[in-house]
Amino acid sequence: MPTYTNLILKAATTEQDQQQSMQVRIVVFVDEQKYPLYTEVDDEYNDKSDVWIALCDRTMDDGKVEQGVPVGTVRLISVSEKVGKLGRLAVISDARGLSLGKKLVQLVVRDAGTRGMESIIIHAQYDKQGFYEKLGFTVEKGDEETFLEDGTPHIRMWHRNVGKSKN
Ligand SMILES: CC(C)(COP(=O)(O)OP(=O)(O)OC[C@H]1O[C@@H](n2cnc3c(N)ncnc32)[C@H](O)[C@@H]1OP(=O)(O)O)[C@@H](O)C(=O)NCCC(=O)NCCS
Repeated sequence: MPTYTNLILKAATTEQDQQQSMQVRIVVFVDEQKYPLYTEVDDEYNDKSDVWIALCDRTMDDGKVEQGVPVGTVRLISVSEKVGKLGRLAVISDARGLSLGKKLVQLVVRDAGTRGMESIIIHAQYDKQGFYEKLGFTVEKGDEETFLEDGTPHIRMWHRNVGKSKN
């Protein structure tokens, strides 16, 4: 198993950053989770969202080190001045369990707070509900039903304390 060190979290401001974000999305959502490629590459919000990437140095079992490997990504869409939508959160499979997903979400929540947003909505894959609950998101009354998005069960969750809590 490779090991990952020297985490850098950064806003995807360059073309290369954007490509690295898309690379992670394709590995995770298309290759692993089997969503069609068009749901990533042709998504209407690709050029209407703020994107962040996580980069790490990767040390392979044979000691070979690759620097600045893209391991995670997330994005935020402005729904309105006060509401953001977090999405396309992905961490590559062998870098999971290292709190990278948590750090990416916390970064977005903080950033949304600094720009005056009060709430963040997500359409979470149903089996990720527990992950988001740990980060301050809840399923609100009336939203308990799952719905299909791109063919898989999702659930609506909100973070209502953006800018007020540590999460
Ligand atoms: C969901 C995902 C981003 C989590 O990333 P990660 O880096 O492995 O998660 P973290 O290590 O930051 O986990 C943070 C906490 O959430 C918990 N957690 C992780 N996945 C969970 C899940 N599916 N359900 C409940 N809890 C979960 C961890 O155990 C950890 O708990 P702790 O803080 O008490 O130790 C990652 O599994 C992933 O990319 N999955 C595939 C893509 C995907 O499903 N994206 C989300 C679409 S809505």
